[in-house]
Amino acid sequence: MRKMGNYNQTEILYIKFKAKDGQAFINFLKNKLKNTQLINQRFKILYENENILFPIVKDQTLIDRVTSSVDKKINFELISKEGIPKENFKYRTLQEALEGKIPDRYSEVIPKSYDIVGSIAIIEFDKFINIDDKDFSVYKQMVAKGISNVNKNVKTVYEKKSQIKGKYRLRELDVLYGEEKSETIHRENDCIFKLDVKNTYFSPRLVFERRRIASTRIQEDEIIVDMFAGIGTFSIQIAKNKNVKIYAFDINSNAYEYLKENIYLNKLKGEIFPKNIDIKELLEPKNHLGQLLRNKANRIIMNLPESSIEFIDVACYLMKESGGILHFYQFSEKPNPIDKSLKNLEEEITRHYWEIESIINSKIVKHYSPKSELIVADLKIKASN
Ligand SMILES: C[S@@+](CC[C@H](N)C(=O)[O-])C[C@H]1O[C@@H](n2cnc3c(N)ncnc32)[C@H](O)[C@@H]1O
Repeated sequence: MRKMGNYNQTEILYIKFKAKDGQAFINFLKNKLKNTQLINQRFKILYENENILFPIVKDQTLIDRVTSSVDKKINFELISKEGIPKENFKYRTLQEALEGKIPDRYSEVIPKSYDIVGSIAIIEFDKFINIDDKDFSVYKQMVAKGISNVNKNVKTVYEKKSQIKGKYRLRELDVLYGEEKSETIHRENDCIFKLDVKNTYFSPRLVFERRRIASTRIQEDEIIVDMFAGIGTFSIQIAKNKNVKIYAFDINSNAYEYLKENIYLNKLKGEIFPKNIDIKELLEPKNHLGQLLRNKANRIIMNLPESSIEFIDVACYLMKESGGILHFYQFSEKPNPIDKSLKNLEEEITRHYWEIESIINSKIVKHYSPKSELIVADLKIKASN
């Protein structure tokens, strides 16, 4: 997630003096200001008759420091004027890229952050602020163009048009800038993920969570079940460095196709067996894979936060009865989301004649909505005697 700043219109400020004093001024900057950046690199230096105009950053403290310490023999003047942007200038921040372009009345609705997935940026505008859409759409495109200026790898900018929804956990996206191409390659924690932002679930915001799970103490030869694997984000990061066997399931055939490709794209130490089924099918008495995996898993990952609780029956069916580790994700309401989630989970596990042997870890992974948080619980569970 990239953070942005505020958006105020600014004028370009110049320090103007005789061209013959130019070298003396540059020497002053070098010797007295050392590395402090006074010159505004976005704009060209201007020449007017015998005068030279240096564009400067709008930092009053710095300007005061310069004007009070510059050699008294150099006569200068501070003027504000429309600047000429440099063609090859690379913006470092979105704030810089949008400076002077977005009217103040819109500054509040410009998002403070956006996601980058491979060559795609995804941005969300506050839907609760009422703005004449026709007028605002021009500025939305300007913001999108600004994002691509700051992030040279970004070729397409999408706007979020819905929340993540449905069985496949997808969201509607509208292109704001660049070509309509929703497939991309994302690199994360030394792994490569090919995916389609419109047809598969992927959140770059879970990067640290995936790293945490992949670097927990996992024994050699563990049998792991990734019940809602998506394009393979958890499975691949674990199998990258661990000699394990992972059974990775997803109901979405698009996610499954990318999962297979990602297994191929990454050099893995472990083995991943992808399957495109509804995980509940494993409970059917005649399901061959279900029978094979029953009472076998040492570890199960359940990242389907809105309804993972409905799949505890599958987890208890697959987990080794003597005990195994469950990584359980859930959206849980404030206040006390962790306590609520653990209580809810314990009830459900007990209902299936299993028990929580120990809570290894439980925490809020990220803020989900004004009312709820995404929580994770890492638990040791076993069948009750
Ligand atoms: C929140 S996403 C998580 C994907 C992946 N674990 C990740 O973190 O990037 C949940 C995934 O579960 C899949 N899914 C939903 N219901 C399922 C079911 N009953 N059986 C198997 N997969 C399911 C969806 O298609 C989706 O890809």
